[in-house]
Amino acid sequence: MLITLCATSVSAGWLPTRPYAATPPAKALGTSTSRAGVCLQCAEPLPFTDTLARIAAVAADNPSQRAAIASLFPPAELPLRNAASRTDGYWAFIAKKEEPPQGLTYGEFPLGFFSVLVDRAAVVAGFGVEREDRTFADLGSGAGRLVIWAAATHAWKLCRGVELLPKLHATAVAKLEDAQQIPDLLRSPVAFDEGSWDDEGLGLSQVDVAFIYTTAIPADEEGVLQDLTKSLTPQLRRGCVVCTTDYTLGVGFELVESLEGPNDGAGGVSTGYIHVKTSPGNGDEDNAKKEAVVQSFEDMEADLLKELGG
Ligand SMILES: C[S@@+](CC[C@H](N)C(=O)[O-])C[C@H]1O[C@@H](n2cnc3c(N)ncnc32)[C@H](O)[C@@H]1O
Repeated sequence: MLITLCATSVSAGWLPTRPYAATPPAKALGTSTSRAGVCLQCAEPLPFTDTLARIAAVAADNPSQRAAIASLFPPAELPLRNAASRTDGYWAFIAKKEEPPQGLTYGEFPLGFFSVLVDRAAVVAGFGVEREDRTFADLGSGAGRLVIWAAATHAWKLCRGVELLPKLHATAVAKLEDAQQIPDLLRSPVAFDEGSWDDEGLGLSQVDVAFIYTTAIPADEEGVLQDLTKSLTPQLRRGCVVCTTDYTLGVGFELVESLEGPNDGAGGVSTGYIHVKTSPGNGDEDNAKKEAVVQSFEDMEADLLKELGG
């Protein structure tokens, strides 16, 4: 189904942006008569026509990867993955008579729009498609769908997923085992960690591009993810490029780009925000030391080659 409302219609109240489970008003979602790139409410061109074109290009470039992801994560089994999330993220709280945290709401971000955002993030980070020395992380990786897709569509040094809820993490590990059985699917190594994005031991300072599906994560009245900003500040390195959805990060993360695109799971439309981390992280000193060691080895090698040559 194509997305059919412009931002003006959305802000006029046609769509709820959250929660994922909400059924949008009938007018909010297109029908089989919907047309790409035109708002069904006001007939204005959609602001994300270019994003739709880029999504179509991603789909055209990766037909076998799309088929593999559909077989690993059948849309019809989304309720099962949702149930895996609710075991630890909903029922465990209900059993303790506590309010389940909104940030544990499960949803799966659309693959094409995800790729468009990560591709832009990689350009902003300065390496584009040259990703063999770069690490990608999905923070809050759920059943691992985006991480496996990222690893199937580009050759990264490493694609990582970090998920707080044990049953979802176990699902991701099982999906990775299944993915490894599909010949030639994975172009990058993949690692899943069970834990929180504020766990210091996860080594997130090595991450070059991070994605976080933040649409259900609590933000302040200005739409700033204050708690998440605080959590990520020590963990990620300065210069790391971070994509969020529908809400932005705060001080220490410079917003450099935003893109609207289709997201049926969030009522029809999401905005992706691309930030560059400008604040230092706890691991920056270690990273600088490692870079200095690599540089001195490279210098030694160059000197040696010069001597041998001369
Ligand atoms: C909306 S889901 C996104 C799943 C996946 N990224 C996708 O799009 O397919 C958000 C995930 O973040 C997880 N999460 C929430 N807080 C977290 C935290 N502090 N550390 C790690 N994961 C967390 C939730 O359990 C949930 O699985």
